[in-house]
Amino acid sequence: MKHTPPIIALDFASAQETYAFLDRFQEEELFVKVGMELFYQEGPAILEKLQERGCRIFLDLKCHDIPTTVYKAMKRLAGFGVSLVNVHAAGGKQMMESALEGLEAGTPAGQKRPSLIAVTQLTSTSSEMLQHELLIERPLLDTVVHYSRLAEESGLDGVVCSVHEAEHIYRAVSLDFLTVTPGIRMADDKNNDQVRVATPSYAREKGVSAIVVGRSITQAEDPVSAYRRIGHEWEGTKA
Ligand code: C5P
Repeated sequence: MKHTPPIIALDFASAQETYAFLDRFQEEELFVKVGMELFYQEGPAILEKLQERGCRIFLDLKCHDIPTTVYKAMKRLAGFGVSLVNVHAAGGKQMMESALEGLEAGTPAGQKRPSLIAVTQLTSTSSEMLQHELLIERPLLDTVVHYSRLAEESGLDGVVCSVHEAEHIYRAVSLDFLTVTPGIRMADDKNNDQVRVATPSYAREKGVSAIVVGRSITQAEDPVSAYRRIGHEWEGTKA
């Protein structure tokens, strides 16, 4: 997972739209994220099609259920040949351990188990919401760091978090623990609905493992040059 290119969030409504977007890319070996919208529309077949196009896949389904159900879900997902999957840390330690066991049980012999990461707090969760709706009194950042430690103790490979949280997380977990960070924007981009955004170079400075970029690439006038610009900034190389 280290030194991965920017992961492109394929937040499209159909396979057709997805392929029209991907057709613009020729030489690049892409790492893409398939979320609920596209997966629920197209099913596992979309994963196979993306793999035929040479894409590595982060399957972002954020599983959260009782441990047995998550075990069975992960056992199925392990057969899809994706590189990265996730669960909600809020499901607790036993659920995360079951997720990992399910992945291990379902990974075909001779293949690499997909990396498993946990969502700490969604970026749409605010401190007010945590306190007044969910009745969680501790500061949001404390919960993020605590969930990260819990994920590591459960044997997971990393977490989804914001760039701004990464340095706090690395004070609590080992440096080979993955931090996969959405909310990435170029300095001259629109923020859309993301609140705590960061640029690719800031993400690199903060030592995060991977960046996830959606609209800054998918909605750009020229997605390929946007992807390359973001990639150069992320890798610290000249365009
Ligand atoms: O378009 P944008 O770059 O904001 O897309 C970010 C992607 O990362 C979206 O697919 C969004 O669902 C996902 N994500 C996020 N915040 C999280 C977890 C996932 O923005 N905490």
